[in-house]
Amino acid sequence: MCGIVGYIGTQAATKILISGLERLEYRGYDSAGVATVEEGQINCVKAKGKLFNLRDKLEHAVSNAQLGIGHTRWATHGKPEEHNAHPHLNAAKTLAVVQNGIIENYLELKAELITQGCEFCSETDTEVIPHLISQYLPNRSLLEAVQEAIARLEGTFAIAVVSADNPYELIVARQQAPLILGFGQGEFFCASDITAILPYTRTILNLNNGEIARLTPLGVEMYTFAGKRVARFPRTLDWNPVQVEKQGFRHYMLKEIYEQPAVVRTGLDTYINPNWHAEENPDYSPVNLGLSPSLIDNLDHVQILACGTSWHAALIGKYLLEQIAAIPTTVDYASEFRYSPKPIIPNTLTIGVTQSGETADTIAALESERARRASLEPKCQAKLLAITNRAESSIAQICDRIIDTHAGIEIGVAATKTFTAQVMGFYFLALDLAYRRQTISNSRIAEIIDGLRHLPSQIETILDTQAEAIEELAHNFTQSTEDFIFIGRGINFPVALEGALKLKEISYIHAEAYPAGEMKHGPIALLDNKVPVVAVAMPGSVYDKVISNAQEAKARDARLIGVTSAVNAGDAGHTFDDILTVPEVDELISPVLAVVPLQILSYHIAAIKGLDVDQPRNLAKSVTVE
Ligand code: M6R
Repeated sequence: MCGIVGYIGTQAATKILISGLERLEYRGYDSAGVATVEEGQINCVKAKGKLFNLRDKLEHAVSNAQLGIGHTRWATHGKPEEHNAHPHLNAAKTLAVVQNGIIENYLELKAELITQGCEFCSETDTEVIPHLISQYLPNRSLLEAVQEAIARLEGTFAIAVVSADNPYELIVARQQAPLILGFGQGEFFCASDITAILPYTRTILNLNNGEIARLTPLGVEMYTFAGKRVARFPRTLDWNPVQVEKQGFRHYMLKEIYEQPAVVRTGLDTYINPNWHAEENPDYSPVNLGLSPSLIDNLDHVQILACGTSWHAALIGKYLLEQIAAIPTTVDYASEFRYSPKPIIPNTLTIGVTQSGETADTIAALESERARRASLEPKCQAKLLAITNRAESSIAQICDRIIDTHAGIEIGVAATKTFTAQVMGFYFLALDLAYRRQTISNSRIAEIIDGLRHLPSQIETILDTQAEAIEELAHNFTQSTEDFIFIGRGINFPVALEGALKLKEISYIHAEAYPAGEMKHGPIALLDNKVPVVAVAMPGSVYDKVISNAQEAKARDARLIGVTSAVNAGDAGHTFDDILTVPEVDELISPVLAVVPLQILSYHIAAIKGLDVDQPRNLAKSVTVE
């Protein structure tokens, strides 16, 4: 939530800050601002609303400043108004601060600062920081004053600070909120995410929790909050700036939907052993996730913690781990688990699922799990695994191991390709465990892998043959449709949940998902001819049940849309008013196909309504606050 960026070097800072904010806008977009240092003064410009408002304000401003900070905001404390936008300044307007996170004790600090004569211009928690630094500055360096100030802060934060009196210094600090440093030739950057600085450098270093850094045109010095010097080397990424362009697509979300075949291929190439033949090499797992026996052998239980779309992927993971690998598995919302942890089960693997690797609830839940198991006997100790799309993220630092989903950067706030990649991660894990535990036959493993290998071309078939018809269908729901119901069963119930979430997020149409058999226990009362019902009806163990539940909805006049491959099987043709066709597929791997038409349908409904598909209202891509 919120994106920060900073620059010190020889180029014009404002341009670099604005281009960085453009790439961070997915983190928050209700106001933005920049502060630059030039001729002994801070020049601070802010604007309410999307970044283009700030860009407009800066259009005719001439600035040669080579030092500055910028911020794009997702409001937590104080409404999205210009006076609450960052950067925030001290009374003398000689210091500017941007922050991502939450200062939990800000009210206490604010009261203290007010008694000392400070006047506040905003309702934000951040504004205490420049006032505090100001108080510590006399007789201290800027670095020391920031160190003193952050020692007073409680909460999670990443900050960047510039001072009019120190035109060759940019100070940054990190406590539980992401912050990376970028290294160029005589120029240095900081940002909440690599994407912000990728056009300028690929040499980066993650600031760790409890670290503060001083960036000057000559280099970077890093310290712990306690002042101990830290020496670490940056690394060079093989990322390509083109990955974060729209590449001709109208929206990032659409581009990311179309990237799914490639994402699945990459997962298969990365994790499936190409030469595996059960009979020839019985000791050689079909999947190579690099997981050590101490992490995954002798498991009695898996618990998965996640939020949002990642929670839906986790539900599919539960199905797979139970049905293929025969391991009892629980799935909890990370935000709930933190405050109502489950009784300890020995030999538990805890999996955090998060595309960003920065979701505060998920990170805190995993950390608390580690802490509460720390003093127990060895078999109860925490074993933490992350399934994430960001190998360099915070979650990777707190887990024993990660499964990198390799989906490439996802910019659209609505997760699409990263959901598919997470689900693929669960196939790989479940197959690896099933093989090690010999819970299903090798021939069944081979069959599942063969099915997975067909997925990329099958997704391409959906994109090639269905996208236009789905766009056409979407026109029916853009005027007066206010509610949608999604139903599914078994492994495809989470797909119904994901379809409903996609629609809510980007089209603002109310949508709910239910296990199809639950409709008759209450939700069916909602149905009439104004409430379309989408049934995920993939052939397999529960197909007939879903069809009969769908018919119950039809009998209540609902317009019925089916996602199915059983187009020619008779039942579907008679049951559904509209069919979103997917290729024939083994039920066990059908979620990867079934979700695609739902993503496309949501996308087109929102796009036809003229909504901001990539940056829907009130949301942010990476939720780094509780
Ligand atoms: O980065 P994470 O996977 O931890 O994010 C979790 C949720 O915030 C995220 O999935 C959210 O629900 C998306 N907007 C879904 O499209």
